[in-house]
Amino acid sequence: MKKILIVFGTRPEAIKMAPLVKEFELHPEEFDVRVCVTAQHREMLDQVLTFFDIKPQYDLDLMKPGQDLYGLTAAIITELKPVLEDFKPDFIFVHGDTTTTMASSIAGFYSGAKVCHIEAGLRTHNKYAPFPEEINRQITGRLTDFHFAPTTASKENLVKENIDPKDILVTGNTVIDALIQSVEKVKREPSSLIKDLDDKLNKAPLLLVTGHRRENHGDGFIRICEALKTIAIERKELQIVYPVHLNPKVLEPVNRILGDIENIHLIKPLAYHDFIWMMDRAKIIITDSGGVQEEAPSLGKPVLVMRETTERPEAVDAGTVILVGTNTQKIINETFALLDNEAHFKEMSSRHNPYGDGNACSRIVNFMKELDLKNV
Ligand code: UD1
Ligand code: UDP
Repeated sequence: MKKILIVFGTRPEAIKMAPLVKEFELHPEEFDVRVCVTAQHREMLDQVLTFFDIKPQYDLDLMKPGQDLYGLTAAIITELKPVLEDFKPDFIFVHGDTTTTMASSIAGFYSGAKVCHIEAGLRTHNKYAPFPEEINRQITGRLTDFHFAPTTASKENLVKENIDPKDILVTGNTVIDALIQSVEKVKREPSSLIKDLDDKLNKAPLLLVTGHRRENHGDGFIRICEALKTIAIERKELQIVYPVHLNPKVLEPVNRILGDIENIHLIKPLAYHDFIWMMDRAKIIITDSGGVQEEAPSLGKPVLVMRETTERPEAVDAGTVILVGTNTQKIINETFALLDNEAHFKEMSSRHNPYGDGNACSRIVNFMKELDLKNV
């Protein structure tokens, strides 16, 4: 029996790890699986746990309002110690690039567990963008024993860092597993919140916005908000829905600059199922989110990405996303181009999503089944 500890802490990690938890649970004779949440996020994490019906065996409950990277990193490492000593996992699974990912992989390494990294190998090679995620990924990559890369390009990044190819498996991104498993249910049973919002939108074309990146805090967010304000004022027929991330550094400028504009709806973060519904309803999505740019093209939605550089070049190459950075004029121009040029809109909406076929989790679990505990 292989003992597996799956650790995550933020909304996107939870969405991308949920289908993996479920897949492992299909094989109780081979895996003893426990889930530990650091709760780096609280409400935004709990929304996902509720939707996927995951009840963690360990909850470190670490989120503090306005937390910083120093305290959070230290707390995760310290608070994971008793969990690791209690369960003594053979393998610790971490996901992506957050502080939870980096600190949990350090703690797992200290405990002697083998580190397994989901969504491995993404790189910008720019230490400050995304900050601190690029370095979180690189640190996690050094500590990882088994790398589950979403694409061949992410595998190649790891090979260039002298990782043995036999320790890398290309899987697709588990976010597509989550989306495929959820989308039909979501369309069948929209929540009452969604029905109310849909009534308000009254069939108008919808621009869906999300944003939270640390490197955009400050001036970047001001430029983003100025762009959204101009778009809303110049295109009165458009409705803009913006579920605002709970980080106070995001909430403050967004509420201040966009609070009083009639066709901009600032709402709380949507539960995952409501957000899928909203993506499906949207005409265009503007975001700096990693996960959203991976999942939206599966629903045929063009995505404008508010980043200067990307660790997801596959999406740019596939033509499913366009990088607009935080340049006010560029955000406005690219939005208007999609609204006004039907051929351009159709072309972007019909491109193939490079991030997978929805079977990433079964590939990961099959790989884990094949591993011989005595030889790892
Ligand atoms: C974190 C991750 C980022 C990831 C993002 C996903 C790090 C350094 N950053 O950024 O990589 O892309 O999550 O959303 O790991 N808050 C709440 N309730 C919540 C969640 C957040 O109130 O449920 C507020 C709190 O005041 C908290 C603050 O947001 O202190 C910042 O949360 P934190 O996880 O440190 O940073 P994010 O910007 O969410
Ligand atoms: N998401 C959500 N509710 C929202 C906004 C986003 O459930 O109001 C989901 C979205 O479907 C995606 C994930 O959250 O899977 C992305 O999270 P986020 O943008 O916070 O982080 P990132 O992907 O940039 O790390």
